[in-house]
Amino acid sequence: MSAVLIIGASSSIGTALAKHYLQQGLTVIWLSRSAADFSDPRLQVIKAPALAEPTDWASHQSFFSTVIEVVQQQQVGLIFNCIGWLHQDGEFKLLPEKSLSQSSSALLRKTLLLNLELPVFYLRGLWPYLTKTPGIRYLQLSAKVGSISDNQLGGWYSYRSAKAALNQWIKTASIELKRSNKTAALVTLHPGTTDSALSAPFQRNLPAGQLQSPAQTAQHLAEVAQQLQVEHSGLLLNWDGLVLGF
Ligand SMILES: NC(=O)c1ccc[n+]([C@@H]2O[C@H](COP(=O)([O-])OP(=O)(O)OC[C@H]3O[C@@H](n4cnc5c(N)ncnc54)[C@H](OP(=O)(O)O)[C@@H]3O)[C@@H](O)[C@H]2O)c1
Repeated sequence: MSAVLIIGASSSIGTALAKHYLQQGLTVIWLSRSAADFSDPRLQVIKAPALAEPTDWASHQSFFSTVIEVVQQQQVGLIFNCIGWLHQDGEFKLLPEKSLSQSSSALLRKTLLLNLELPVFYLRGLWPYLTKTPGIRYLQLSAKVGSISDNQLGGWYSYRSAKAALNQWIKTASIELKRSNKTAALVTLHPGTTDSALSAPFQRNLPAGQLQSPAQTAQHLAEVAQQLQVEHSGLLLNWDGLVLGF
């Protein structure tokens, strides 16, 4: 493998992954709505479309033709999708639900758009590359709170449900992918609680030592990626490589 594609690269975890792989001497394709705040000769940028709701996926065919051309040229063997969303500050504040009474159409729709629809949009757009590239590894960032069997605390209805649906989608796609590419691995991955804009309002009551820096998370996720085998395809993996229950 000579290159890595990072979707949602301006996320805290995506940026740390980009820096990690650049340090390893690999080319990084930075796919994001925002430019990188650092430069590197091995960094190649693709501007992501800002998707509004409802989105006509078909109108983005030429965008994906460009992406596939670039990943083919660079021989991308590893793809991370880091897109995700949990809360919004400002005038139209949106916070994850502590109780059912706090649920709303605005919160549910936005959570589903950014944690399910956008990941599916990218998976579908890259499908022609995934089905044809020997040994391709696709790691879709998800969250342990999307595990239904692990849900002991309740709350965060929309985010949990969107990530649970994402896990199911990736599991289902992994079964389809196996039919055309027996050497591919497609997984969902819990990055661990990481210091970022997404986790910032929820860090106060964390047990000591649980919050990882983005660089620590990137190191862990890169280790998981390196050890990823075809047999893992469809699983939800923890940042330390352990298999999490659905
Ligand atoms: N941080 C944690 O503790 C934690 C824990 C569990 C799971 N996760 C998951 O790990 C992933 C990365 O988390 P993070 O903390 O690094 O996130 P982050 O820094 O908040 O970044 C999230 C990224 O999602 C994309 N995004 C957000 N709003 C968008 C919009 N309206 N349209 C298009 N893209 C949008 C952006 O990508 P671009 O700006 O690059 O386009 C953004 O950089 C997420 O899927 C998250 O759910 C994080």
